[in-house]
Amino acid sequence: MMIHAGVIASGVPGFAVKDGIMNPHGLGLEAAEEHHLMVTTIPGIEDIVVEEASERLDLRGSQPRFGGVGGRVYLRIPPGDLQSLFKMRSIEHIIRLLGAFPVRGTEAGLDEIYRGVSELAIPLGSTFRITCERVGTHEYTSIDVQRAAGQAVVDKYGTRVDLRNPETIVRVDVLHGLCVVGIQLTRNSLRIRYPRAFQHPSALNPVIAYAMLRLSGVQAGDRVLDAFCGGGTIIIEAVQVWRDIEAVGVDISPKCVDGARRNSEAAGVSSKVRFILGDSTRLESVLPRGWTADRVVSNLPFGIRSGRRKSLPRIYSGFLASLRPRLNEEARVCLLTVHKGLLRSIAERIGYEVLDSKRIINGGLVAHIMLFRPS
Ligand SMILES: C[S@@+](CC[C@H](N)C(=O)[O-])C[C@H]1O[C@@H](n2cnc3c(N)ncnc32)[C@H](O)[C@@H]1O
Repeated sequence: MMIHAGVIASGVPGFAVKDGIMNPHGLGLEAAEEHHLMVTTIPGIEDIVVEEASERLDLRGSQPRFGGVGGRVYLRIPPGDLQSLFKMRSIEHIIRLLGAFPVRGTEAGLDEIYRGVSELAIPLGSTFRITCERVGTHEYTSIDVQRAAGQAVVDKYGTRVDLRNPETIVRVDVLHGLCVVGIQLTRNSLRIRYPRAFQHPSALNPVIAYAMLRLSGVQAGDRVLDAFCGGGTIIIEAVQVWRDIEAVGVDISPKCVDGARRNSEAAGVSSKVRFILGDSTRLESVLPRGWTADRVVSNLPFGIRSGRRKSLPRIYSGFLASLRPRLNEEARVCLLTVHKGLLRSIAERIGYEVLDSKRIINGGLVAHIMLFRPS
């Protein structure tokens, strides 16, 4: 309830509140011809979504952490911009909002969901499915929500349910005390950029790769290095988004270097990237003579999956020390780690200054994107 009050009070622009239902059609917005959308992203990078949206779209309104929940952003755009929205790199799913209403966490909440969904005008194809994401503590599960909302749609419209291949995906999210209803416009997450030929066990979500590259301030013409490239996610993302950059990935594992090359072929960018087999704690013997970097963007080994946590201080300090002479004056180094304190203390000792730090949720794990410059 509190979250709901917050959303209403902070004014999701353009929503009329009638009988507890926020309805984008209530204010005659059909005439204004604007789309009210909720997009999903990695919790912690909502500001980057708003930034990218303002660059790519005629953004008429926005609210990061829509519904008071991380990883969701409200956007208001003209219909003509919908195609461009699908090109955004910082988002995963796009949901066209139909309405939102308060919902209790007790079992009575399911009746409220049934009633709330029944009151909305839902544009449906010949078949539909309800998809629910639930955030917070409730006496019911996501499956209960799907069942209650699905029953409301069947009772009102008589439309057939198809769980596997529905024509319409109706999204019913319960975000603490708020139920948000919309049509999910994305079938697959936009983070799937190309069919991966090699799946690294700790492959980074390309949405995070994009956010890190952006934070590092990559520009056309830059030399970009990922010193722990794995399957090449960051390097491939870099050349797909920024033109005329020189992108180099290094990894100590031959299997990863080969996999990164195969992924770059699958992405159609193999001629634009270079992957080198080598140990990034000794970059002087890995990088070509005289090669210096403008941006270094890496997802450091966390030591969680490999169980080699003890070796991390050696890897972090060896990497940062051997990188230091290979950085251009205005270089930026953007690193993802779960060991924020360890990385900061090693970096400061070696001669780096922390410029920014962002806490994100990466696959259910709290991680930190840290931005450095040589000091
Ligand atoms: C977290 S993974 C990177 C995953 C990658 N971002 C992706 O999306 O596929 C870390 C990588 O660091 C590599 N690595 C570990 N120690 C290294 C070292 N000393 N030099 C270079 N690479 C190293 C591992 O082989 C692993 O592929």
